[in-house]
Amino acid sequence: MANVTLKRATKIYPGEKTPAVQDITLEVKDKDFLVMVGPSGCGKSTILRMIAGLEEVTAGEIYIDDKSVDGVSPKDRDIAMVFQNYALYPHMNVYKNMAFGLKMRRYSKSEIKQRVIEAAQMLGLEDLLDKKPKALSGGERQRVALGRAIVRKPRVFLFDEPLSNLDAKLRVQMRRNLVQLHRRLEATMIYVTHDQVEAMTMGSSIAVLSKGHIQQIDEPLNLYDRPANKFVASFIGSPPMNLLSASVQQEPAGFCLRANGLSLKMDKDLGNYLGKEITFGFRPEDVQCLSGGPSRPGGPSRPGGPFKARVESVEPLGPKSNIYLTVGKSTFVAAADGHCGLKVGEEIAVDFDCSKIHLFDEGGCRIQ
Ligand SMILES: Nc1ncnc2c1ncn2[C@@H]1O[C@H](COP(=O)(O)OP(=O)(O)OP(=O)(O)O)[C@@H](O)[C@H]1O
Ligand SMILES: [Mg+2]
Repeated sequence: MANVTLKRATKIYPGEKTPAVQDITLEVKDKDFLVMVGPSGCGKSTILRMIAGLEEVTAGEIYIDDKSVDGVSPKDRDIAMVFQNYALYPHMNVYKNMAFGLKMRRYSKSEIKQRVIEAAQMLGLEDLLDKKPKALSGGERQRVALGRAIVRKPRVFLFDEPLSNLDAKLRVQMRRNLVQLHRRLEATMIYVTHDQVEAMTMGSSIAVLSKGHIQQIDEPLNLYDRPANKFVASFIGSPPMNLLSASVQQEPAGFCLRANGLSLKMDKDLGNYLGKEITFGFRPEDVQCLSGGPSRPGGPSRPGGPFKARVESVEPLGPKSNIYLTVGKSTFVAAADGHCGLKVGEEIAVDFDCSKIHLFDEGGCRIQ
């Protein structure tokens, strides 16, 4: 298996002015599972295709195991790529679909058989080897596509949204299968998705992309706990982090954030931001919904809190409910217990755990 390193890789498609991806620098260590996540058009497929050799790199370099792959053709890169649209050969059965690539590479019949059977066992396809693709379910077809990649025993696997054609239940199952497969194969894998749940649950590390640039590369929970900027903060998490503008003011009790209807005392030294507009963010689960009106006995002694809030809408999800609230002119979402019983139009008290508040400067970057 192999390390994959990109150094300032940039792609400008012919006839285009703006780069599809720019200055992509990342290192995927041997046996790592890196997930690249970002909205449609941010450049995920372009990066994979450059690694696979299907797109030329306009500037920068790509290394596989410390060797530049500049000028190395896709077939000599020893990479297998699984796409969202994994066209199987319709006239071939499952066995032949999986064997085809090896046959083209002139492997012996016995070697082919051994590899196909081994992959079929891993993927639970043993009983389907004689079937043609049209007689398979979507999930089974997807597993055959995976099998085609596995039999090649490549140094690197690239996955381009391979689960997006599957229904929600099957996706969850295939997600787990892929993670298990990664452990069994001890392979280097790069997996592209626009689904942040897939990213969080599958990756040992995650690269978040926006508009052709990497925003942050980190372990899943670090991304969640310490997003480097507003984009990552709003992309990772469902519902996303609440982001509100506020001005920084100094009060006798310390630095204070003032937003529409909210005033929060902060423990951090925000002297550099006095009088400036910044953005503060808080996760839905860090809002406490307190029933019984705005005046909670024993509430914290800081400006304004707890706050009187109005319930605008309630989304029951079972284990929890998303409660959309307004305080003054500020609107945000809180995660409450699934059986909280809150009703639209009700007035409640809410409070915030200020140690869990994230701050972003005018440029959107995290303030430490
Ligand atoms: N062959 C091409 N010629 C010109 N522009 C292209 C080409 N392929 C992609 N692009 C542009 O490059 C940018 C990145 O595209 P890319 O396919 O890498 O995005 P993506 O993140 O994979 O999106 P999606 O999630 O929709 O698959 C987009 O703006 C796209 O329009
Ligand atoms: Mg794509």
